[in-house]
Amino acid sequence: MEKVVLAFSGGLDTTVCVKLLEEKYNLEVITACVDVGQGEEEIRKAEVMAEEIGSQKHYTIDAREEFANDYISKGIKANAEYEGYPLSTALARPLIAQKIIEIAEKENAKAIAHGCTGKGNDQFRFEAVILAMSDFEIVAPIRELNLTRSEEIEYAKNHNIPLSSDKTYSIDENIWGRSIEGGKLEDPSNEAPEEIYEWTESYENAKDTPQKVAIEFEEGIPIAIDEEMMGLIDLINKANKIAGSNGVGRIDMIENRIIGLKSREIYEVPGAKLLIAAHKALEELVLTKDEIRFKEYVSTLYSDLVYNAMWQEPLREDLDQAIDNMQQRVSGKVELKLFKGSIIPLTRESDFSLHDMEEISFEDKETDQREVEGMIKHHGLQAGKYQKLKR
Ligand code: ARG
Repeated sequence: MEKVVLAFSGGLDTTVCVKLLEEKYNLEVITACVDVGQGEEEIRKAEVMAEEIGSQKHYTIDAREEFANDYISKGIKANAEYEGYPLSTALARPLIAQKIIEIAEKENAKAIAHGCTGKGNDQFRFEAVILAMSDFEIVAPIRELNLTRSEEIEYAKNHNIPLSSDKTYSIDENIWGRSIEGGKLEDPSNEAPEEIYEWTESYENAKDTPQKVAIEFEEGIPIAIDEEMMGLIDLINKANKIAGSNGVGRIDMIENRIIGLKSREIYEVPGAKLLIAAHKALEELVLTKDEIRFKEYVSTLYSDLVYNAMWQEPLREDLDQAIDNMQQRVSGKVELKLFKGSIIPLTRESDFSLHDMEEISFEDKETDQREVEGMIKHHGLQAGKYQKLKR
């Protein structure tokens, strides 16, 4: 029998895929779960599920460091947010695909499989990488057999596939964020129930007193939180805790998917929201006005590329280089206040600050105020001529 490596999470889609790949495709299934920080419990769950379902071989690949240092860090430097969503799932997919390719090569497999449906974004993200970076065949059983979620549950029951607890929602989790979809959330006229949230407090239950937090950056990367230096993974985990307990980082949005569908999506991204807010606050101090305008534009472009499964697009690499160049001066410290879902910058300091306290001061006599008169006359020259004509 020929081998297929399945990107496996232990969730409904990928568990059903194991049986489908054996039964309908006649392939020997090797499952591989890429750890991008979905939590110890999820990783163990995937291992147990792989065993129970009879996967021939199961891999757990720890890709957390790579995810933080080569993907999330780029997201922070770019302030990457798609329609307000910090791209937690979108940033992880290319790395997961890359890791699955490595296993498929090692196992001499014929194909790579994933459990995505034909409606979402992740099928694009996985397949873009597999197509660009390998010659493996791609198998997408859920999409190819046009299965609905309830048909999958039915199939699981008929094939004695053990299903872990509640299958109402489709959840994706990694260090950078948590996404919850499906069930009653599909109808935007339904309020999202409190039970879906795990990383963030509601405004009502968030702390009643504001919390101050200090983030220090070096070349665009956060390196310390509240004066404590730590690696990016620990720092993000800590940022998630601090921001989440203050009700920061809940997103309930109508998102525009790649295939054009609008979909109601819920995210919990407390650390991402805090770190991006702090990063932007520091950029305001050290980048020029033109750099900031360019950065806003680049940020949208970058986020669209990441969201739209274009990680392999050379423009993404070009933008990373331009961003890295600017980030050389994004070093310093930002202090912020968190209170019931809001983030407010309090103080900013940097050796690269372009802010001149003396010149901006109302008490400054050094700068001759009269010098600006000529500038003003020329500043609105054409608008003035136009209005004169009209008059
Ligand atoms: N819509 C988001 C994205 O495209 C999240 C998808 C995550 N998948 C899930 N099953 N919750 O990045």
